[in-house]
Amino acid sequence: MEYQIAVIPGDGIGPEIVTEAMKILDRVGEVYGHTFIYKKLLMGGASIDEYGVPLTDETLAAAKSSDSVLLGAVGGNVGTSRWYQGPPETRPEAGLLGIRKGLELFANIRPAWLYKELADACPLKKEIIGEDGFDMVIMRELTGGLYFGERHTTVENGVRKAVDTLVYDENEIRRIAVKAFEIAGKRGKKVTSVDKANVLDSSRLWRAVVDETAKAYPDIQVEHMLVDNAAMQLVMNPGQFDVVLTENMFGDILSDEASEITGSIGMLPSASLGKTKLGLYEPSHGSAPDIAGKDLANPIATILSAAMMLRYSFDLDREADAVEAAVQQALTDGYRTGDIYSEGCKKVGTREMGSVIAGYIK
Ligand code: IPM
Ligand code: MG
Repeated sequence: MEYQIAVIPGDGIGPEIVTEAMKILDRVGEVYGHTFIYKKLLMGGASIDEYGVPLTDETLAAAKSSDSVLLGAVGGNVGTSRWYQGPPETRPEAGLLGIRKGLELFANIRPAWLYKELADACPLKKEIIGEDGFDMVIMRELTGGLYFGERHTTVENGVRKAVDTLVYDENEIRRIAVKAFEIAGKRGKKVTSVDKANVLDSSRLWRAVVDETAKAYPDIQVEHMLVDNAAMQLVMNPGQFDVVLTENMFGDILSDEASEITGSIGMLPSASLGKTKLGLYEPSHGSAPDIAGKDLANPIATILSAAMMLRYSFDLDREADAVEAAVQQALTDGYRTGDIYSEGCKKVGTREMGSVIAGYIK
């Protein structure tokens, strides 16, 4: 089969890690007889430099007409980069939010699990991680809530005032809840819905709609957890979670927390899905401008994102398994980039890590 992939390298370490993910896809193509055709697109700072805006209509249209989108990372150093001098809608991150919204990718899947090999890099105590570690998926709503509600800044009687709005309608909640239950059905059969229903109306609606949706999935256990408690439970007892379902902003925060306890944010992939097979796949981490261009970045999160693409957009489960197994093999054999390095291991750069993993694909 032939697959058209829109590739958005982005900024900072983005181009380096995306190059390694393509190396892996090409190897999968060779071994399993597929052709991946890449179309490079600019977004974020790279697009600002070229076109003056973080996302052009042409880029969005090109992404829409592809079979899926592979993204590195966008953004620069907020304090020093020229990309941050204008209003928010002209900055690199606006490109990312624009493409998520433009492609209607409402479901963001961020898995977080602990590799045995990296247990020493996990900041939690051994008694907390236990024998089995943890293996969860954060399901973050991605096109609503505080990120997309009405906002403005005014000055009233000389006092500056800023407003952001947290809005959800029941349809937006239901469609992400359905995805969460479906994914839980293929995993540990438990959904923990996270909200702030003791304070927020949007959370009370969230909770009601999740309960209604749950009726169609009698084999799945549902529980509700307040977001402050969830933040605490993630570091006290991460093994209790299977699928964590939550709104946009809570999911942004909790997914960073979940990624940190896996040892390195450089390990975690993500998939953003909508109603169709078209998805956007990107590492959960940012563009790390401080280490860009130095062959230091960990490409594993992007490589695992490419594996998610094979699985969710192309239904190539066998190929996705092969990529995940190759990553596991590289870790078992002691290959480490700087962020996950510990004594006695083999320290490698971005490119070598990619080549080692590619070599293990069979
Ligand atoms: C993420 C990032 C983005 C977000 C930023 C860069 C706008 O933190 O993907 O988690 O908040 O969604
Ligand atoms: Mg984030």
